[in-house]
Amino acid sequence: MQVVLSEAKIRERIKELGRQISAEYKKAGVERLYVVGILRGGFIFLADLVRELEIPVEIDFVWASSYGEGTKTSGTVKIARDLEGDIQGRDVLIVEDIVDTGLTMTKMLEHLQSKNPKSLSICSLLHKPAREIKKVPIRFLGFTIEDQFVVGYGLDYKNLYREYREIVILPPENR
Ligand code: XMP
Ligand code: MG
Repeated sequence: MQVVLSEAKIRERIKELGRQISAEYKKAGVERLYVVGILRGGFIFLADLVRELEIPVEIDFVWASSYGEGTKTSGTVKIARDLEGDIQGRDVLIVEDIVDTGLTMTKMLEHLQSKNPKSLSICSLLHKPAREIKKVPIRFLGFTIEDQFVVGYGLDYKNLYREYREIVILPPENR
């Protein structure tokens, strides 16, 4: 499989993101961050990212599903499981694996904004601008990628390949 992002490259970028995120929130006087992971794809990125942060975090998850089983968005985004905690008045950082059409994140932003956080920002490991339908304000971004379906490091095809340490292009014969 063709490697798009190696384990080392991902690790290096996450260290940088950790420093940037910590610095910006510290500068804004934020003492504790409420990190919201988007399941399932974001779980590995979140685990690595929070360990690079230099401010205390609370961690929560939202379960979003948009893709069904294919490689194209179904267009409808469902919140299959909501947050456990209360984010009213909190500084919330959403952690996502990839922003593609932007439909999932647009829905997630509306949903979380309605709970009245003090601030709400997005950190996405990947952005695939080629297929954008809704523009999403990604405050912290890992990498921009080409219009290819990638798996690994949390990203899946039919719930497979999430455990790969690198991000690879899924060859057509594997679909
Ligand atoms: P949208 O289109 O709503 O997509 O921005 C966000 C969700 O779609 C999934 N997605 C991918 N998953 N490889 C994957 O494994 C990809 O190349 C890809 N592109 C989009 C992903 O679950 C994300 O949360
Ligand atoms: Mg996903």
